[in-house]
Amino acid sequence: MIKDKKAIGMLDSGVGGLTVATEIIKTMPAEKIIYFGDTLHLPYGPKSKEDVRKYVYKIIEYLNSREVKTIILACNTATSMLLKEIRQKIKLPLFGTIDGVLQSVREVTKNKKIGIIGTKGTIKSKAYQEALLQGDSTLKIYAKACPKFVNLVEKGVFKGPKVLKIAEKYLMEFKKQDIDTLILGCTHYPYLIPVIKKVMGQGVKLINPAETMAEKAKNIIAVKGLISGKHEDIVDFSNHEFYVSDLNKVSLEFLNKGTNYLNLPDLKFEELHIFD
Ligand code: DGL
Repeated sequence: MIKDKKAIGMLDSGVGGLTVATEIIKTMPAEKIIYFGDTLHLPYGPKSKEDVRKYVYKIIEYLNSREVKTIILACNTATSMLLKEIRQKIKLPLFGTIDGVLQSVREVTKNKKIGIIGTKGTIKSKAYQEALLQGDSTLKIYAKACPKFVNLVEKGVFKGPKVLKIAEKYLMEFKKQDIDTLILGCTHYPYLIPVIKKVMGQGVKLINPAETMAEKAKNIIAVKGLISGKHEDIVDFSNHEFYVSDLNKVSLEFLNKGTNYLNLPDLKFEELHIFD
């Protein structure tokens, strides 16, 4: 039942979006992906919406030129700032990390007190807060930007006393607010799950939004008749394509530890100049 062999296009500000790619590959093993990480402009978190828009549209133009069948914004900052806007503009099915977050929250929370952490851009956009409150106005939402987490993860530092100290400082207020659910609204944060769990304790469930998003994307891709094959058909990993805009800015430390953490094989990133 081979239907549509075109690839799924994915974009992120860097290689952090591999946490999202991992969920896509796990959920849709028959699909080939073309991943573009904009390391030249990383991080997106502190940048203006205008700048992020400029970069993201350029990457979408590239992915369109590769005739992908769908596009995934594997970046919470880009999703929060631009998902709604881009959805109005492009014909392809488009998914962002926020898709499905309401469902995840509903499945998990008991006391309806929800924490959300992300980059400055994500938190300032209020996109997660709005998506949740539109679905359930009785939720109590507490949001906090945790910019230092990205720098640590980029350096390949996923655990240890320094990470723990920073995590305690950022997350302390959530403990006072008695949240029972914490949304990891940044591609880099899933690498810190062991530390975040340690700080928040057993009573707080962590949500990686990419998990439900991948499920949602799978269902919609199937409904639209865009699936590549049976999901038992596993794409040879070397068929996936991974690109970055600046290879010098790929932290090898992060890449090595990150792929290991995500149980991915060694990845070969190619540099691609789409911003010239
Ligand atoms: N990929 C970004 C996100 O998920 C994190 C890194 C950045 O600031 O660009 O928000």
